[in-house]
Amino acid sequence: MTSTFTIGGDLEVGRLGYGAMQLPGPGVWGESRDPEGAVAVLRRAVELGVTLIDTADAYGPFTADLLIKEALHPYADGLVIATKVGFTRQGPGQWTPVGRPEYLRQQTELSLRHLGLERIDLMQLHRIDSKVPLADQIGELALLQQEGKIRHIGLSEVSVDELEAAGEFATIVSVQNLYNLTNRSADPLLDHCTANGIGFIPWFPLATGKLAKEGGPLDLAAKEHDASPSQLALAWLLKRSPVVMPIPGTSSVAHLEDNMAAASIELTDAEFAALTA
Ligand SMILES: NC(=O)c1ccc[n+]([C@@H]2O[C@H](COP(=O)([O-])OP(=O)(O)OC[C@H]3O[C@@H](n4cnc5c(N)ncnc54)[C@H](OP(=O)(O)O)[C@@H]3O)[C@@H](O)[C@H]2O)c1
Repeated sequence: MTSTFTIGGDLEVGRLGYGAMQLPGPGVWGESRDPEGAVAVLRRAVELGVTLIDTADAYGPFTADLLIKEALHPYADGLVIATKVGFTRQGPGQWTPVGRPEYLRQQTELSLRHLGLERIDLMQLHRIDSKVPLADQIGELALLQQEGKIRHIGLSEVSVDELEAAGEFATIVSVQNLYNLTNRSADPLLDHCTANGIGFIPWFPLATGKLAKEGGPLDLAAKEHDASPSQLALAWLLKRSPVVMPIPGTSSVAHLEDNMAAASIELTDAEFAALTA
């Protein structure tokens, strides 16, 4: 069983979660190629003890949220669904930030409907929109929080300065940035989060699968551990800081099972240092 982190001081989740971005069609656009398989992956995730599922209105759009509702509603006690608003979609692989308050509100309302929730436990601003004042973007999420529609507010792809600036308008309990063994550009942000007890959700924890591949950079170390490369990549993240909550994405039950087994791998300090180097 994975260790836990308490988001915002009151939402305890297992630190190894699941990310739903692989469930819609290619380019995170349109319907799933295998909707029954997607439902099976989500149900198996919860069976295996996942209590943090990451999604976004933009995944499809709406495809991931509707699959989550179909697979898991009514939700088990303690299951936290973290979602995001603030990205519009123009087609496969295309993402454009829109942070206008009325759009963030509309998408929050749609997320509540699509997920079948009365309140969203963790709402993350998918991207800060540089064309809209930060006070308006965070301010609207704070209003939705006051209205009881959002429990906690998080950010995605931000710098330490942006996190601190957003903190002027609301309490920010988590950030979600690209981070894995082969891309550590968010190290300063992660260190800041660790020092301040802010949750850090690394996206692309498997470098979109490159770290999970046989024959990849973790092959040798994985063989020494009798583990899969993916498990080592996730165990390294879990060891990196107690505020880290990886959300590996997969559309395959076998890969999900492989990934979740990483929770029981504990790297020694020497093993962690060797992988880090
Ligand atoms: N905030 C943001 O801007 C942002 C951006 C991107 C992603 N995210 C979030 O982060 C989550 C994770 O990112 P991600 O899903 O794009 O990338 P990822 O977790 O780094 O890697 C997913 C890829 O790895 C493959 N994979 C997963 N487990 C495997 C295993 N055990 N063995 C072999 N291959 C495996 C998957 O293919 P299969 O489907 O074949 O298993 C998929 O192609 C997303 O689901 C999403 O929730 C957030």
